[in-house]
Amino acid sequence: MPILVTGGAGYIGSHTVLELLQAGHRVVVLDNLRNGSLLALRRVEALAGQAVTFQRGDVRDRALLDALFAEHAIEAVVHFAGLKAVGESVSQPLAYYENNVNGTLVLCRAMAAAGLHRLVFSSSATVYGVEAPVPYLESMPRGTTANPYGTSKAMVEKVLEDLQVADPRWSVVLLRYFNPIGAHPSGQIGEDPQGIPDNLMPYISQVAVGQLAELSIFGNDYPTRDGTCERDYLHVVDLARGHLRALERVESPGVHVFNLGTGRAYSVLEIVEAFQRVTGRAVPYRFAPRRAGDLPAFWADTTKAARELGWQASCNLDQMIRDTWHWQSRYPFGYRQTAQKAVVGG
Ligand code: NAD
Ligand code: WQD
Repeated sequence: MPILVTGGAGYIGSHTVLELLQAGHRVVVLDNLRNGSLLALRRVEALAGQAVTFQRGDVRDRALLDALFAEHAIEAVVHFAGLKAVGESVSQPLAYYENNVNGTLVLCRAMAAAGLHRLVFSSSATVYGVEAPVPYLESMPRGTTANPYGTSKAMVEKVLEDLQVADPRWSVVLLRYFNPIGAHPSGQIGEDPQGIPDNLMPYISQVAVGQLAELSIFGNDYPTRDGTCERDYLHVVDLARGHLRALERVESPGVHVFNLGTGRAYSVLEIVEAFQRVTGRAVPYRFAPRRAGDLPAFWADTTKAARELGWQASCNLDQMIRDTWHWQSRYPFGYRQTAQKAVVGG
């Protein structure tokens, strides 16, 4: 029976679709292509030697979901579809609550109507909130989130918990991602941000490839090893495999929460230095003021995912950087043929 992957044409979704296909699953993708690429799915099909059923459309379109569930005997849903730009969520909160929260509500209603109660949801380490002690443990409560994006993830987690209480047939897996980076080792699929990247690794790789002049490091006066922020970066293929493990290992009803991270943190300066060493490319940088909402350091406690899913990240930082660079240097403009205007003008 096929798995429905919402947002399967995006960064993490496309890598997960590939892992699912390679593990022998059939896959149906629903994506409105707001931030995804059909080319990514075509390359996934070529890598896997298998076809994906693609439906262009919105996860908030109930009639479309009903038709999809009527046509395909879906076994479980992996729900990536949503908006993820933290800064944009501050200026457009309604778009974020509408897409991320309402999108999940519509999806769950359609699933329930189709008698389908297995859901894996893309959550985020951001739900631990701004005051949580490190490392983050799944047993900690959700905290105060720093922006509407984070709040939308925390809200969806709560909605899914309440839904599971109301109808115990639901099996919900909340996967809290730390900082996914990297690309498939083939160099065929990777992260393709629109406009100027918000996140560190795509920004560094666009500096290294010559599309951006220099990296601004947001703050060097944090109480960390070298004054720059520390994060738990994990390879996107490891992350994708975490979804596979969640589908394989968690069938029992309930709400099951897992951190997906490596359990160790690197500073921004350590990432820049490692990138230069691994790729041999210069990454000019300057120190800039702190970015609003950034926390000094956080990383995952990975014990639960190891124990219950048999999952742990296998790629080290050098592999993450090598694969990022393989993708970026092979496809400097991502899935597009030429530079985007925003990048050229910026
Ligand atoms: P992405 O933007 O590359 O992928 C999201 C996909 O969903 C895109 O292909 C987009 O076109 C699609 N989409 C968006 N809204 C939709 C809608 N209403 N209906 C149908 N399709 C829609 O992002 P990603 O990095 O692959 O992230 C996937 C999920 O993981 C998101 O929910 C994100 O919030 C979450 N997440 C990402 C990170 C990260 O650092 N990338 C960290 C934690 C959690
Ligand atoms: C990492 C570090 C920056 C860019 C965000 C979301 C989180 C999740 C992952 C989606 C920070 C520094 C960055 C730059 C820099 N997203 N930095 N210069 O903020 O840990 O997490 O993405 O779910 O919810 O908040 O990741 O890659 O943006 O930043 O110095 O140009 O790099 O200050 O310390 P972050 P990031």
